[in-house]
Amino acid sequence: MKKLHFLAVITVLTLFVQCTSRPADTTEPSAAVIDTTALKAAYEATVNEKQVHLYILRNASGVEAAITNYGGRVVALVVPDKNGVMTDITLGYDSLNHYRNRSETYFGALIGRYGNRIAKAKFSLNGKTYQLSANNGVNSLHGGPMGFHNQVWDAVQKDGHTLELSYTSKDGEEGYPGNLTVKVIYTLTDANELKIDYEATTDQPTVVNLTNHAYFNLNGQGDTTITDHMLTINASKYSAVDSTLIPAGDPVTVEGTPFDFRTAKQIGKEINADHVQIKNGLGYDHNFVLDKKQANGLEKAASVYSTVTGILMDVYTTEPAIQFYSGNFLDGKLIGKKQKAYGHRSAFCLETQHYPDAPNQLSFPSTTLEPGKKYQTTTIYQFGVQK
Ligand code: GLA
Repeated sequence: MKKLHFLAVITVLTLFVQCTSRPADTTEPSAAVIDTTALKAAYEATVNEKQVHLYILRNASGVEAAITNYGGRVVALVVPDKNGVMTDITLGYDSLNHYRNRSETYFGALIGRYGNRIAKAKFSLNGKTYQLSANNGVNSLHGGPMGFHNQVWDAVQKDGHTLELSYTSKDGEEGYPGNLTVKVIYTLTDANELKIDYEATTDQPTVVNLTNHAYFNLNGQGDTTITDHMLTINASKYSAVDSTLIPAGDPVTVEGTPFDFRTAKQIGKEINADHVQIKNGLGYDHNFVLDKKQANGLEKAASVYSTVTGILMDVYTTEPAIQFYSGNFLDGKLIGKKQKAYGHRSAFCLETQHYPDAPNQLSFPSTTLEPGKKYQTTTIYQFGVQK
């Protein structure tokens, strides 16, 4: 009798374990590298009365992007290396709380209302001066401390490939005029592209410059450096900056300077050169003006590959410029995913954009958005391997 009872208990327990270990959502693609269930749990929260989640996009060849609607941040991007090893190439944290506790970091985030810097945190539009939050010395950086990177976006995952995010930035938020309605669509295509479509409309004249601030390391996130990567930027001019990283007038030629990446060059080759602009940027932290065949055309802007993993990333954009930042402010103090300390120059960013400080430097392509007009840009990060 006792034996029968024991067998019954074992059977019930076995059934229970089988049921609970089944994935909660069986319609979801099985994740090759990302532990979907565990990772999603680390992002479930209510912030400012809005629900935060993690969304997983996956394509036919197993490339995965994990994106949270907190700041629209790409928290993982897993692509194959030259041996087919799936590798996470973006810096970030292991949970939502880490992002919230380090709100001054931009890992993987959507940036707005204005990417990069606005001098002295103010600008004038139609005769009125607007005071922004100064969060980078006297300047405003990346939309201010409560920029789009720290806001909860509304999210709709259309299918396994597409995530649509929306956010309404209220008139006066971080000092900017006008209610701005923003939509960003992330699409992971079967051609191994992470495509980002940005749209915005406003009810008052305002300024807009949206971008994504992914930090990449094509050796794999947490690797010590990116100075061994080979970089090409399709730009004959760049913005020289003052010591606070504000463009000092019109763009200048890259010819004969460490800023000439028109043919592939190791990032580290001249990163410590005795050049005033390298000193001002503490390395590379500059706006490169793209050589475009057609203004607003979706054209190749840059290409980077790792000589270690062979992972290759091509960047295409409709934007006129790109900020190349070589991770100069990373100093090993931030501990990221898998307990990796993110050291000096252990990541690079290629932020497609209009020029920094355009609202104050009227010879730059305009960033003003008028009511009735639509802001629309596209950027694609495409992955492959360098043969
Ligand atoms: C941009 C800026 C850099 C730095 C990073 C974030 O790339 O140009 O100066 O602020 O963002 O740390």
